[in-house]
Order: sequence, then structure tokens, then C-alpha cells
Amino acid sequence: AMTEIRDLLLSRIRDVPDYPTPGVLFKDITPLLADPAAFAALTGALADLCARTGATKVVGLEARGFILGAPAALRAGLGFIPVRKAGKLPGATLSQSYDLEYGSAEIEVHAEDLAAGDRVMVIDDVLATGGTAEASLRLIRRAGAEVAGVAVLMELGFLGGRERLVPALDGAPLEAL
Ligand code: PRP
Repeated sequence: AMTEIRDLLLSRIRDVPDYPTPGVLFKDITPLLADPAAFAALTGALADLCARTGATKVVGLEARGFILGAPAALRAGLGFIPVRKAGKLPGATLSQSYDLEYGSAEIEVHAEDLAAGDRVMVIDDVLATGGTAEASLRLIRRAGAEVAGVAVLMELGFLGGRERLVPALDGAPLEAL
């Protein structure tokens, strides 16, 4: 069943050459989102992973991690917590910066959304260099919570995200559907 789901998901991801810049092959998930059977299969697989790992909360990474993480959280019966780019959350936040190829980026979470005793599943669409996901793990641990795992729809293996993330996962699973 998992290979059938994988084939369905793959068939609904569109390759867009030279977007957003020449030489980049963009993976567009909008056909998948527009197909309720594929979207439901993805949501179900993510919710199952939450259940298997004993997650108690779901963190979604802006922006496409919100689209995938929120329905998975609901389906698993868990609360959803947005990790946003800096400056978007109104309450008291924890911030984490991380290095990009040129410059740096910063993500934030509401401090009151995570606490000791929480086991958090991180959901996003793509694992590329792993910088965003790694920073989210830092945020989760700085809040005193535990990491249940990281789940992504796609992993761009040639960018080395898995190698970067696994040491930071401390034994928790990294699943690319
Ligand atoms: C993309 C993607 C992941 C991240 C992966 O988001 O959705 O969140 O980059 O890259 P990394 O593994 O190299 O950190 P993007 O920053 O484009 O934000 P958006 O979804 O808000 O457009």
C-alpha cells in the first residue's frame, strides 16, 4: 500500500524547469493539493506517522508545511503549531537563526505553544539542505519539548539534508514519503 501511495504522490508532483532561477528544477505540489484522493493519502500517511511515533503535537514549517501539517494534525487528533519566518507571530517568541548559502534566515515559534512533556512531529513539504528543519529542532528543544520525528513529502537527496539532520535527530525518525 505504501508503494501505491508513493506512486500516487509522485504522479501529482509537477517538475518546473528553471524556476525560480535558471538551472533549478522546482517541485510543484499544487497538483497534489488539488487532488483530494492524493491529498487525503498524504494526510493519512503523515497522521499514521504521528501515531506510530507517539507525537503529541505537530509543528508545521512556513509555508507549505502549514498546508500539509494542519490536516495531518487534525486527523491525528493533535494540536498544530506554526513555526514562522521572523516577525510574523504576535506573542512572545523563541527565535532561531541559521545559515543559508548567502546570508542567514530566522524562524520563530510562540514560546507558550511548546513545553516539557510535549513530543513534537515536524512536518514540511521538502527537505533540501536541512537548515530549516534543523533550526526547528533547536527551537523545539529550547522550549523544553522532545522531538518525535521529522516528516517531509520529498527529500532532495543530492543536497545532503539527511546527513545534516540525522545527528540532530538524536535517534528520532526522518521520514520522506
Ligand atoms: C522551502 C521548503 C522548506 C525549506 C527547505 O521553504 O518549503 O521549508 O525551503 O529548505 P532547506 O532544507 O534547505 O532549509 P521556503 O524557504 O521556500 O519557504 P516558503 O515555503 O514559505 O516559500
